[in-house]
Amino acid sequence: MQSADPRWSDVDDYIVEHLIGGDPALEACLAANAAAGLPPIDVSVPQGRMLELLARSNRAQNILEIGTLGGYSAICLARGLGEGGRLVTLELEPDHARVARRNLENAGQGSKVEICVGEAVTSLQGLLEQGGAPFDLVFVDADKQNYAAYLDYALKLSRPGALLIFDNVVREGRVVDPQSEDPKVPGTRKLYEMLKNHPKLDATAIQTVGAKKWDGFLMAVIREE
Ligand code: SAH
Ligand code: DHB
Ligand code: MG
Repeated sequence: MQSADPRWSDVDDYIVEHLIGGDPALEACLAANAAAGLPPIDVSVPQGRMLELLARSNRAQNILEIGTLGGYSAICLARGLGEGGRLVTLELEPDHARVARRNLENAGQGSKVEICVGEAVTSLQGLLEQGGAPFDLVFVDADKQNYAAYLDYALKLSRPGALLIFDNVVREGRVVDPQSEDPKVPGTRKLYEMLKNHPKLDATAIQTVGAKKWDGFLMAVIREE
């Protein structure tokens, strides 16, 4: 694979300058993540804004995120919530959750967000047993090996019409290589296999280039029938 074209980042900068602008809370979040040694694998600035707009246009009141890291995408999703809305975000690493909690508070979003620390599958089982309000939007961005399990839980925990979004479903094209040595590829391919002719979901995936190189989002909507 060739290295990223520098124009991808230049165009992201142009998009941010014209459509989004500076954002002290998100910039502080990235600085805090770097200071804490978190890997820089947050969604990009335009992708974060896209998550916010999807939440808002879907009138989401209950959002689930799997994979919090330092809370960058959580801040974006929380901003897109309707009045009184709630975000539940799941994170394995207590250190990541601590950084995220602080970043969410600093961004003025803390009161809307619950961070559940632990294996996401365990937290998801807990949410299922609690039987709370179904989710309107689910953003999946944790370990790719478990994407199939996350789809199963997202379906059980969400209402008809809900939007499910999966990050990193292209991985510089490695997704089409069944022999790929990237350990994250088989989990992602399993997600696509599950969605092939799925009885309850309509799906697409959009390839993206930009500051986060060549990757993509997969989106699925639960049929309303
Ligand atoms: N959504 C974030 C980035 C998430 S990075 C953003 O855009 O800002 C992926 C995160 O998933 C990491 O913090 C990692 O610790 C977490 N993770 C990995 N495996 C997990 C698991 N089994 N359960 C819960 N979280 C997990
Ligand atoms: C990785 C994970 C992500 O969620 C992402 O957006 C980019 C990279 C990773 O684990 O390498
Ligand atoms: Mg990701």
